[in-house]
Amino acid sequence: MNIEQSHPLLTDYAGLRHNTSDRADAAVIVSGTLPAELNGVLYRNGPGLFRRGAQVKHSLLDGDGVVQRLELANGQARYARRFVRTPKFIAEQAAGCFMHPTWTTRASAWRRNWGGNIPSQAGVTVEMANGVLSASDEVAPRFEIDPVSLETRAPFGVGLPDRDDGLKAHTRHLAASGDCLFVSTRMGRGGMQIDFMRHRRDGTRVATPTVPAPRMVYVHDFAATERYAIVALHPAFMRPLRFLTGFTSLTDSLAWRPQAGNLVLLIDLATGQATRYRAPTAWIWHFANAWEEGDAVVVDFVGYDDAGHFLGPDAQLTAVMQGHIGVPGAPGVLRRQVLKPGADHVEETVIARGNVEFPSVDGALGGKRHRRVYVNSSAPWAGALHSGVAAIDVERATTDAFDFGAHMHAGEPVFVPRQGGAPDQGWLVTETLDTRRNASGFVLLDAEHVADGPVAHVDLGEPVPLSFHGCWVAR
Ligand SMILES: [Fe+2]
Repeated sequence: MNIEQSHPLLTDYAGLRHNTSDRADAAVIVSGTLPAELNGVLYRNGPGLFRRGAQVKHSLLDGDGVVQRLELANGQARYARRFVRTPKFIAEQAAGCFMHPTWTTRASAWRRNWGGNIPSQAGVTVEMANGVLSASDEVAPRFEIDPVSLETRAPFGVGLPDRDDGLKAHTRHLAASGDCLFVSTRMGRGGMQIDFMRHRRDGTRVATPTVPAPRMVYVHDFAATERYAIVALHPAFMRPLRFLTGFTSLTDSLAWRPQAGNLVLLIDLATGQATRYRAPTAWIWHFANAWEEGDAVVVDFVGYDDAGHFLGPDAQLTAVMQGHIGVPGAPGVLRRQVLKPGADHVEETVIARGNVEFPSVDGALGGKRHRRVYVNSSAPWAGALHSGVAAIDVERATTDAFDFGAHMHAGEPVFVPRQGGAPDQGWLVTETLDTRRNASGFVLLDAEHVADGPVAHVDLGEPVPLSFHGCWVAR
């Protein structure tokens, strides 16, 4: 099969990389049946502005954040969208051009690249933590977002000791305590250091002692239980001099050295004590969840044998910005690591073959044992682009999946619990792009019967760029 000719996203992928704009709140068309008991709001965030004039972001993952709001109530849907008004966005709107470097793209004015000062685009996630809705990426600060109007409020400080400078976009929500756990990786002359900040349900903030990391690498996500955090240090090494002197973007400063393997840190959140494990090489974007089992910790995540879809020449997520498919790299595989006391290697197994990403579990099971992991899925040759969703039963090693067709792109499935239901009873909501119609929408599936296909579809009547992450807020 000639992928360059047959890949549907080659000709129609423009929908995911075009500039979008704000959209005022209004009712939107629903087909199928939205369950009447569904009452809440889905928030999504992702890059929504990739070009100004002749300036184009290098990667599909890089752009100013735009928050989407899909309100579902009484079988009806309303939708709105608004860019996060970061200082960067405001200044560049006024100037009519990109002025600042971003994580994959250097600024045209060379002096602005000096020192590695990347401003926040707030374009990776939007989440509710202790009653505050905030949008963020991997640069301080986060921005509080009005949950109704989507207006940008003040910066939202998490309270990390590095003033949130290296704050990661991913937060862990622990179901038993109701706590939220934030992490940052801080680069300095002494190497990389890791800090955690725990927000308790009552508003108390508890810092964990700073943990020195044995290597300086890019980290995107982590896993946590009530007692431990798990940080995977995959071999994507930072070359800070290249970045700080402005010769490369942050991502172009990363060197993938698979022969170094992965290191996993199991960090006691009370003491900061870190136990180090060796692990097979895997590029890791996202963890599904972790739990404690006796003295061991079990961690499920998606790992790739290589970083081909993201790093290196003609990486897929860069190539699609220029209209070709590039190198899709190794497929994302749902894997499990068991971290046992006294061991120096993890025990790693493959839970399910396939090509998956954006793993998550029912939020009621954060830090607890889970049975089902929800993912995006796709054919192995599709790389980091996905056309379906799946629920993987990690105990039975079975997959309940639905594919929308190769002409469709599907984003992260968000689990929406049924009010008063048992764990894993509820729905999955995923944002889709129909590349034939060049129109985006949201699809609702029964989380216990994914293969049955959509229960309802919300049509936006226009394309919306890739949204990475979001959350469901019930009412
Ligand atoms: Fe992410």
